[in-house]
Amino acid sequence: MPILTLSNIEKYYGTSYVVKNLNLAIEQGEFLTILGPSGCGKTTTLRMIGGFELPTSGSITLKGEDISGLPPYKRHVNTVFQNYALFPNMNVEENIAFGLKQKKGSEKMSQNRIQSRVEDMLAMVQMSDFRKRKPQELSGGQQQRIAIARAVANDPDILLLDEPLGALDLKLRKQMQIELKSLQKRLGKTFVYVTHDQEEALTMSDRIAVMNAGNLEQIGTSNEMYYHPATPFVAEFIGESIKFEARAKKTQNDGSALIDVGTMSFPISGKTHKNPLREGQKVVVFLRSEAIMLHPANTNTDAAFKGVIGDIIFVGSTRKYRVHIGNEITLTALETTLGAPQYAVGDEVQISWSADDCSVFEL
Ligand SMILES: Nc1ncnc2c1ncn2[C@@H]1O[C@H](COP(=O)(O)OP(=O)(O)O)[C@@H](O)[C@H]1O
Ligand SMILES: [Mg+2]
Repeated sequence: MPILTLSNIEKYYGTSYVVKNLNLAIEQGEFLTILGPSGCGKTTTLRMIGGFELPTSGSITLKGEDISGLPPYKRHVNTVFQNYALFPNMNVEENIAFGLKQKKGSEKMSQNRIQSRVEDMLAMVQMSDFRKRKPQELSGGQQQRIAIARAVANDPDILLLDEPLGALDLKLRKQMQIELKSLQKRLGKTFVYVTHDQEEALTMSDRIAVMNAGNLEQIGTSNEMYYHPATPFVAEFIGESIKFEARAKKTQNDGSALIDVGTMSFPISGKTHKNPLREGQKVVVFLRSEAIMLHPANTNTDAAFKGVIGDIIFVGSTRKYRVHIGNEITLTALETTLGAPQYAVGDEVQISWSADDCSVFEL
């Protein structure tokens, strides 16, 4: 049974919807990421799970119990925000202990138990040496560790994280992504993580739920999202692709076809689309930069296009070549820097890709 279920959740502000008919089942111990562009409804969804916002309709169950109407403090769910929201007048220990000291009645904790729990949390985020510091005496990454320790301290069923690494510089963010993921696996806790950064989502998640304008577009593993996008939006949002509006010709029973883009024509296999294509059907085709192969002009290849190198962008481990095919089409090819032949601006090249390597959708 899933630990958290969102059923037919809708959220309206006035007459405009922010989340539309959202159904989501999250498994115990899962790292689930809600990914989508700014304004698509990620934070609103997280706030509804946390109880800070009530859905207009639909229900939310946690461990089988309907929590839709419960106030935040009655849900066993904690949230970590991008801006950390640590108490500035409290030191690290006091920040982590704060929630534990609030517990009342049968849940009340002794001073000793609080202290030992704080010790465990400090060790977990490797911040034991910083226990007496105030938040402003810590770096951004250290503050975020404390915010996470504080949120995990009272053992919530689920941790909600809203762009928690957004304020960190790239290098620290990459390091914290790995730390957070390994922490989550060690704790065996369910994380619902929100980000607009597709690379972050692909790196960290067990599954990704892609949202667009209040709608859930697709839910699946990083691999499924990347190699089998279910919608044109997902194909365009994840990874770097070129998009062609084209027509399908010579459609075969095995799903293969020819794609006509202007004067260019190339084969696709049946793996590139779900529904059979009709002869002459308008389609949109996505082709990833890394699927495009460049060959020196004098190579003997069949099924290759002739092109000319336009610009070259050096990105460290890879090189991006913008390649013109005639006057109509410009592709971006991604090549590793090591081993591959290198081209200069103006070089003539041949360009190819496999018939399996596109995603094709009906228009
Ligand atoms: N309290 C509110 N009142 C009216 N509109 C809101 C409110 N909160 C969010 N919105 C709108 O809802 C949409 C989704 O917002 P949000 O969930 O914050 O998106 P995200 O976190 O994906 O960037 C945005 O268009 C935003 O302007
Ligand atoms: Mg947001």
